[in-house]
Amino acid sequence: MCGIVGYVGPGDTVGVLLSGLKRLEYRGYDSAGVAVLDGAGEVSVRKRSGKLARLTEMLEASPLEAHGSGIGHTRWATHGGPTDANAHPHLGDGGRLALIHNGIVENFAELRAEVEAAGVELLSETDTEVVAALLGIEFERTGELESAFRTVVRRLHGTFTLLAMHRDEPDTVVAARHNSPLVVGLGEGENFLGSDVAAFVGHTRRAVAVEEDNIAIITPEAVRITDFAGDPVEFEEYEVAWNADAAEKGGWSSFMAKEITEQPEAAANTIRGRIAGGEISIPELEALGDEVLRNADRIVIIACGTASYAGQIGAYAIEQWARVPVEVQLSHEFRYRDPVLTERTLVISVSQSGETMDTLMAVKYANERGVTTVSVCNTQSATIPRESDAAVYTHAGPEVAVASTKAFTAQITALYLIGLHLGRVRGTLSAEDQAAAVTAFDELPAAMTEAVETHEQLAQLAHWMADTRSVLFLGRHVGYPTALEGALKLKEIAYIHAEGFAAGELKHGPIALIDHGQPVFVLVPSPRKSPVMHSKVVSNIQEIRARGARVIAIVEKGDTSVLPYADDVIRLPLTDALFEPLVQVVPLQWFALELSQAKGLDVDQPRNLAKSVTVE
Ligand code: G6P
Repeated sequence: MCGIVGYVGPGDTVGVLLSGLKRLEYRGYDSAGVAVLDGAGEVSVRKRSGKLARLTEMLEASPLEAHGSGIGHTRWATHGGPTDANAHPHLGDGGRLALIHNGIVENFAELRAEVEAAGVELLSETDTEVVAALLGIEFERTGELESAFRTVVRRLHGTFTLLAMHRDEPDTVVAARHNSPLVVGLGEGENFLGSDVAAFVGHTRRAVAVEEDNIAIITPEAVRITDFAGDPVEFEEYEVAWNADAAEKGGWSSFMAKEITEQPEAAANTIRGRIAGGEISIPELEALGDEVLRNADRIVIIACGTASYAGQIGAYAIEQWARVPVEVQLSHEFRYRDPVLTERTLVISVSQSGETMDTLMAVKYANERGVTTVSVCNTQSATIPRESDAAVYTHAGPEVAVASTKAFTAQITALYLIGLHLGRVRGTLSAEDQAAAVTAFDELPAAMTEAVETHEQLAQLAHWMADTRSVLFLGRHVGYPTALEGALKLKEIAYIHAEGFAAGELKHGPIALIDHGQPVFVLVPSPRKSPVMHSKVVSNIQEIRARGARVIAIVEKGDTSVLPYADDVIRLPLTDALFEPLVQVVPLQWFALELSQAKGLDVDQPRNLAKSVTVE
């Protein structure tokens, strides 16, 4: 949600801001804008509802000549609809200052009344403009941006990343964060701000993660960070591992297509360095101390969306290998149910972005209760891993498409590695299970590559099914959350009704949905690895087929048992039973992508969705 970019330096300010916003598009937005100091040294704003292309058109029609400081924003509407007036930046101090915001100011009504009483006329419905107005009033009083900004941020409740600039301090952009992400990019004679490193990775890979409740003050030559009281804070820079090319489409029709094909590599990178001499070991967990892992009597996995399905799949494996009960809770449900947590509970959060507000709040809640927290995250130095006791990174590289693909399979991979590490430390992992898992990990990238090669078949299927209004997905055991993920992908990017069911639950209700021609994807377990479950799923297929379903069976290569009952068969390589989701989900991802394309939709940026949901 809301992308933020800030720049100070001698470069082409508008170009820097637009390229940053372009790279932040993936976060999801419905309007965009920039503010710069123009040739006359005044604050000039261009902003527009809709996609960035509309803002670019506006800038072509009415160019901004600017070298110096500037701020840019993509807005995902919360307070007020996605109109031109509500788009950021917002102005204060009679147009002398500009401000952008990601988050929600909860005490905005009382602040609005205050600034209106002071005679400020507000032009939008946003909470942000109220903050810009307050900053204007404060600047008039003090004549100094940094202290005025500090006074204002201390008065705000809710969540925010704020960036502000003022005509009278042309070389400075100030920024603050509270429960919302902010990073600084360090350049030579220029500096950057962003809601994530994508905002500036085209210019520099030297970054500083701004800590919670801190303020960053950047000029072309210097970066300072203070707390909200104004006391200096020391900071460390880090090298961004992703390069700018990794976040480019590189010839693919969509980021999602590129990211689906990157899954074998993402899994391999996540495994690398964590298996040695036939043993699985995660150094980041070792730092927690074996005692904590041995004493854990319950694991709670918290996540949202696709990450929660990765968590559900991981739960099967962790229970099997580490013999500890695992439950999965949606982050936003977790902290409001007064969960039972003891010092022996281990909380594992799963988040691609590491910024999902619901998950962040759940992690903070667990921390406050003294629970050990482990983060599975794909984004270096994001807030959630920094708030956690240990961080196990997935090395999937930047994921840009809103619909998660390679992050999902990398999350499952990481959770399996955690399960095996726990099993070894707790003495519950048998030598055979360990050896089988090591072999499965060895063979995984090749198996996933074969799964990626099903693309053409799924493209055909989607083409034939372009008018489909509802699709069902069935699976058992780890196939069940895989079915849920297959359905979610279709909802997200093809906007059609889709549901996933546990195949065993069919007779308890969902079978009533089966009518002539109803498409049903069935994830069929391996007959060799799971003969009992396999035969049960084949029976389920017969039951739905008898009621007219159009069956698309996803089977292990060589499994001919379903041929008499399936309309379409997608064949995948043999893997260990627990590893099936890592290959079975791939054709489901292709199907969603191709159906979305067949309907002429925007695969990467589906309506109403944001990749990084930074409000609750
Ligand atoms: C949003 C995205 C989903 C994603 C979920 C969790 O809802 O649209 O694709 O699965 O957030 O995101 P996270 O970054 O925490 O994995």
